[in-house]
Amino acid sequence: MPYQEDFAVEQFMDKFETQAKYNLGETCCYSLSLDDIEQLSGNRYELDRSMRLTYRDIKGSEELRALIATIYGNTLTKDNVLVSNGAIASNYLLYYTLVGKGDHVICVDPTYSQLYSVPEMFGAEVDHLKLTKEDDYIPNVETLAKMVKKNTKLIIINNPNNPLGSVIPNNIMKDICQLCEKHDIYLHSDEVYRPMFHSLEEGFDLPESACDLYSKAIVTCSMSKAYSVAGIRLGWMITQDKQVLRDAASRRDYNTISVSVIDDRIAQYVLRNADKVIARNMNLCKENYHYLTEFINKNKEDFEYVGTPQGGTVCLLKTKEINDTYGFAEFLATEFNVLAVPGEVFNFPGTLRIGYGNSKNDLVEGLPLLKKANDIWISRTK
Ligand SMILES: Cc1ncc(COP(=O)(O)O)c(C=O)c1O
Repeated sequence: MPYQEDFAVEQFMDKFETQAKYNLGETCCYSLSLDDIEQLSGNRYELDRSMRLTYRDIKGSEELRALIATIYGNTLTKDNVLVSNGAIASNYLLYYTLVGKGDHVICVDPTYSQLYSVPEMFGAEVDHLKLTKEDDYIPNVETLAKMVKKNTKLIIINNPNNPLGSVIPNNIMKDICQLCEKHDIYLHSDEVYRPMFHSLEEGFDLPESACDLYSKAIVTCSMSKAYSVAGIRLGWMITQDKQVLRDAASRRDYNTISVSVIDDRIAQYVLRNADKVIARNMNLCKENYHYLTEFINKNKEDFEYVGTPQGGTVCLLKTKEINDTYGFAEFLATEFNVLAVPGEVFNFPGTLRIGYGNSKNDLVEGLPLLKKANDIWISRTK
């Protein structure tokens, strides 16, 4: 068996998520029910009860893949899409398809640790491109160029970034694509938080998707975060490179066969009403992010943002007086029923990852408790 490290962020969330009263760890925009979506959109969800529940379309239905393709530039069609059980399954499948022993991979850090631990598990040599304060936590293309080796097969980025919320500007994204093209390297862009670009700085153009910019870019995304329906477990990979898609589909035959037909139908329904769902979530993230920023401004002596969050649903908060944020996050969860994810699970101690896309009430009730716990912890450890 290949060695696989524990998935620290998922394990921490698993341990505390169901018992937490106030969830500041959530990464999805406040999840929706079918009733909610009907109310938002004014369109009913009609389940075809006569539909025979077979495996049906192995790659995902044509209708769903066509709807997914419309999210991207107009050169991409349903034939550029492969549906999976969430972005997590697409990521895994992509690494299973592309990398192994003898391959060199470069991955941004910090990020969702699946993005470097799975390539490593498949035997690749993985180097981490550290995102630094000096670069406002955006990949430094010069550093990246110096890291490229003869056997570099894949570069992995995450845009918007989990846990930082940083967004890669189009000029940097184009430079990354050019670098990959020059050395004939695949680019994986995990864009699971797209299109939650809710707080872009002035003058910042709407970020383009990597799959529209480079022929060997593979983008993964899902219905979980921006579309608020993580429970249907439906994601995809999209790329201009149809050979990668064929290879991935062939590998997937061994572990998935197809995605649930009910999930496929629900995803179609949500995407047909995406304008309403996305508008609701943009407002939610904007408002909640603003509320969180006010809280931080009021408590500057204790907390500050790491970098400049501009998109997604999460950010890292530096805890100025607390170094052991793992111990603190356990204390916060057990004593105050508030879930915040410790930066240690992203190799970033001294920080907490805060998810602000959840209901506003979680912030309104949870943030004062975070401050209270912070003060008690500091007084105990002084
Ligand atoms: C960067 C990133 N990629 C992928 C996933 C997996 O998402 P899902 O499988 O629900 O689509 C997550 C979940 O938190 C994530 O943050």
